[in-house]
Amino acid sequence: GGDSTVSITVVGASGDLAKKKIFPALFALFYEDCLPEHFTVFGYARSKMTDEELRTMVSKTLTCRIDKRENCSEKMDQFLKRCFYHSGQYDSKEHFTELDKKLKEHEGGRVSNRLFYLSIPPNIFVDAVRCASSSASSTNGWTRVIVEKPFGRDSESSAALTRNLKEYLEEDQIFRIDHYLGKELVENLSVLRFSNLIFEPLWSRQYIRNVQLIFSEDFGTEGRGGYFDHYGIIRDIMQNHLLQILALFAMETPVSLDAEDIRNEKVKVLRSMKPLQLEDVVIGQYKSHARGGISYPGYTDDKTVPKDSLTPTFAAAALFIDNARWDGVPFLMKAGKALNTKRAEIRVQFRHVPGNLYNRSFGTDLDRATNELVIRVQPDEAIYLKINNKVPGLGMRLDRSNLNLHYAARYSKEIPDAYERLLLDAIEGERRLFIRSDELDAAWALFSPALKELEEKKIIPEYYPYGSRGPVGAHYLAARYNVRWGDLGLEQ
Ligand code: BG6
Repeated sequence: GGDSTVSITVVGASGDLAKKKIFPALFALFYEDCLPEHFTVFGYARSKMTDEELRTMVSKTLTCRIDKRENCSEKMDQFLKRCFYHSGQYDSKEHFTELDKKLKEHEGGRVSNRLFYLSIPPNIFVDAVRCASSSASSTNGWTRVIVEKPFGRDSESSAALTRNLKEYLEEDQIFRIDHYLGKELVENLSVLRFSNLIFEPLWSRQYIRNVQLIFSEDFGTEGRGGYFDHYGIIRDIMQNHLLQILALFAMETPVSLDAEDIRNEKVKVLRSMKPLQLEDVVIGQYKSHARGGISYPGYTDDKTVPKDSLTPTFAAAALFIDNARWDGVPFLMKAGKALNTKRAEIRVQFRHVPGNLYNRSFGTDLDRATNELVIRVQPDEAIYLKINNKVPGLGMRLDRSNLNLHYAARYSKEIPDAYERLLLDAIEGERRLFIRSDELDAAWALFSPALKELEEKKIIPEYYPYGSRGPVGAHYLAARYNVRWGDLGLEQ
């Protein structure tokens, strides 16, 4: 409204995340007129910088979508005029008090709402929250803090972080981001399930043979080795991004679309799962590989990674949900860096058709005949269903085809970045896509024991060449549960 303001402070303004995601997302929201009339963006970091220098830095990160090129530079100038900088230490109340003064000047006596985005390393989260909450909280509006993983590295350290944050903040002030929840196709998962009659009745052990959650990147940890080595792929991708997708996929129907109703269902399904067993996980690490005259570095070639590091850059895991709907259905996860493709997808393999009249047409390989639903989260968003059909003509030959919702063909609009959705929700106080602390605890409970064992037993990862399909161990693991990975070409 006209008499309230929102001040967005990006703590750690010169960091990678701020430059790559946060400022561009704020600008995109501004461009779409999604930000309130009165808003200010403050960059906060240790280095000395003037407002002008911050604007120059931010301006280099801004882009306009292809379909939004008109008056783009004008809009950028308007946006940059709303950006300011304050230099300070992350653990100094005094410096946050100075920030508070500047924020007040901009708020000009209106109701003040304040959003702090902590884009800083985890070891200073709590200091920054302590200082921001005691010295720069709003006195007449809301104060919210966005934090991003790592939320600890196991159940204990995560619980300690939550406890420490809650000394200074109420749970409803903490917005824990998992940016996968802001992705269009992840958001669409619930629409697909709950607004189409033809899916929900099939959504159980009765018809679904297995579910696969696959994440792959075609580049290594390039430059992020220092962070990554302390966490590894299971904590970086599985325990959060893939598990969140799994929870949305497998949860029971929520009472309503309200944040608490949805999060209650997610917690329930997570708590129905068995903790990951060591024998149900395969780990890998990429090694250097030369191809086409180019030599790609191995994980431990990174200067910031110890030479003898056993940190997994690839993992495959089988998880199970002990409830009436999913009893016995393997949920297979696979996540890896430096693989042959960049892709994130959900694959649902359905059971064989009982007494299929056309069995003979598929020879001995009945898997070729089963339906599969694929939700390709990225790139090139799509939802397609593999079905069997007759090849047209006088003979009787069967074929596999896709019923395909291909987003680029269906919609000419570019899909907003996940951070746009999430920042907007945080400003509007919509908590549906943020992780509640009990959800976080449940997620850690599933992975902590196996992570601990992997580290204590110093399990050696299976080495795979940069740019390959990853360790063969992933196939043996899947085969143990009678599964073939769908992304490896039964059909392509
Ligand atoms: C981050 C991980 O959470 O997600 C990174 O820390 C990973 O390692 C990234 O590269 C992938 O996100 P996106 O949106 O590019 O798929």
